[in-house]
Amino acid sequence: MNANHQQLCPSPEWAAYIQDEVLPWLVDQTELGHELLEIGPGPGAATEWLRHRVKRLVAFEIDEEAAHRLAEKYADSTVEVAVGSGAELPYDAESFDSVGTFTMLHHVPTLALQRSILAEALRVLRPGGVLIGSDSLASTELHEFHAGDTYNPIDPAVLLALLQALGFDRITVRVDGTLSFVAHRPDGTERCQ
Ligand SMILES: C[S@@+](CC[C@H](N)C(=O)[O-])C[C@H]1O[C@@H](n2cnc3c(N)ncnc32)[C@H](O)[C@@H]1O
Repeated sequence: MNANHQQLCPSPEWAAYIQDEVLPWLVDQTELGHELLEIGPGPGAATEWLRHRVKRLVAFEIDEEAAHRLAEKYADSTVEVAVGSGAELPYDAESFDSVGTFTMLHHVPTLALQRSILAEALRVLRPGGVLIGSDSLASTELHEFHAGDTYNPIDPAVLLALLQALGFDRITVRVDGTLSFVAHRPDGTERCQ
């Protein structure tokens, strides 16, 4: 990631934004259950807040150095760190109660890969499980912030259509200065049509 991110993402200001403004609303919409997979944790702003709310948190990060730093920080804790792409998760189907992606989809270079990450999230969720996420909205300022870095913000309408087409249910996509979303894996209960 570029120098702007290296400065912002580990900062206390960014952690406060994620922990005070982004995560509480998301978690208020649903139940996280016991086992949570976080895709793209970076320096761990969301990890730090979420780890106190589940029994087991797996942080799955594509950047080896970032993953190494996070593993050192969370040695001897309930946080497990693994390296790889969220587009190809090495976990069995139905192995997590919740999946989180925060400020990471716009760092995924193509819509096809973003779709794969959402599809993988659905696959590893238990029936009734939940995907929660947040992301930045496209803007000139955000584009400039990403100079020399991947910049591929997902359109909220496209995200909603993708989540629905993949098979998520009870979907909420909120646009309120930033993008927040909550989408559940169907639990198999028949509902009136
Ligand atoms: C801008 S940082 C956000 C970090 C953190 N989630 C937060 O909100 O502070 C995006 C992170 O996603 C990671 N990432 C990008 N593509 C990924 C992928 N396909 N699988 C897993 N992690 C990925 C990046 O390496 C980076 O650490």
